[in-house]
Amino acid sequence: MILMKKEIILTGDRPTGNLHIGHYVGSLRTRVELQNSGKYEQFVMIADLQALTDNANNPQKIRDNILEVFLDYIAAGLEIDKTRFFLQSQVPALFELPMYFSNLVTLSTLQRNPTIKNEIKMRGFNKSIPVGFLTYPISQTADITAFKARLVPVGEDQLPMIEQAREIVHAFNSTYGKEVLVKPQALLPQNQTCKRIVGIDGNAKMSKSLNNCIYLKEDPESLRKKVMSMFTDPNHIRIEDPGQTENNPVFMYLEAFVTDLHFEKFLPEYKNLEELKAHYQRGGLGDVKVKKFLANVMEDTLAPMRERRAKFEDKKDYLLEILKRDTEYAKEITNKTLNEVRSAIGLNYFTDNKL
Ligand code: TRP
Repeated sequence: MILMKKEIILTGDRPTGNLHIGHYVGSLRTRVELQNSGKYEQFVMIADLQALTDNANNPQKIRDNILEVFLDYIAAGLEIDKTRFFLQSQVPALFELPMYFSNLVTLSTLQRNPTIKNEIKMRGFNKSIPVGFLTYPISQTADITAFKARLVPVGEDQLPMIEQAREIVHAFNSTYGKEVLVKPQALLPQNQTCKRIVGIDGNAKMSKSLNNCIYLKEDPESLRKKVMSMFTDPNHIRIEDPGQTENNPVFMYLEAFVTDLHFEKFLPEYKNLEELKAHYQRGGLGDVKVKKFLANVMEDTLAPMRERRAKFEDKKDYLLEILKRDTEYAKEITNKTLNEVRSAIGLNYFTDNKL
């Protein structure tokens, strides 16, 4: 019998705060599907080292969010015995590999990375960019390649990171003459609006610092408040005015979350989103009605997440034990890759390639 090795999937999140619905539609929802397909070996990493690259003076914030992010994973539907969860900072290969990879990347490539550029602007780093921050795409390449992951389920903002990883893999394999590393591929959500979901204020990025997020752990009351405060089409003033559904945050969220079943349950006078949109576009449908519907849809989506979260919320020791167990496993796997990388460069002076 030929034992087929399962394809490997790796992703991660920075533990700088709770995960929000942008994380969910961009990546978490795909991870849950991949997990449940049973076809893959999936690793999910809590990227505490990457979080440090712009929080060097606030390690406590990162400590405080590690188990929170783990709980968010469980809330989203990831399961302890189907997916491996580990902590980046406890896996040495992930910070040794960037040492080798960094020789294959130029400064100007890093400076051109559009996601990094945008993040530098948002953080106001301007001329004082921490080196660790600028180079985190190299570290992210290590995260992915150390597991030989072929698939990385991410939102659109992470595409430049995957591209960087592919370039490094190409450079490494062609420089050291061996097919050691695997070129990864981004797995984007099918639905266009899910690739990069806007904030409740319509800002292109949903981000804690912009205070425009809906969190997976949002309680019912604040969820409703947030939805009712959302931006819509600014020219849709009277109910009878024709409205725009394109680039309208309320409709974008509906696109990301609504199912026909939601219409049956909460708004049976329409069959589906197409019908609702058509009515809004021709006029005669008020924002409040659409928002109330969206609030129901969101509550329907988040309620089971709160339940799953509640089951583990006071089981901190258990969660830590799982993290420790899976982190040990991650160490084993990544050390294998690390050894192959060191041999390919010829650094195994004392063992199989003695000086
Ligand atoms: N950069 C990712 C984020 O900000 C987190 C991350 C770290 C990651 N390492 C990764 C994502 C490896 C995918 C693969 O959310």
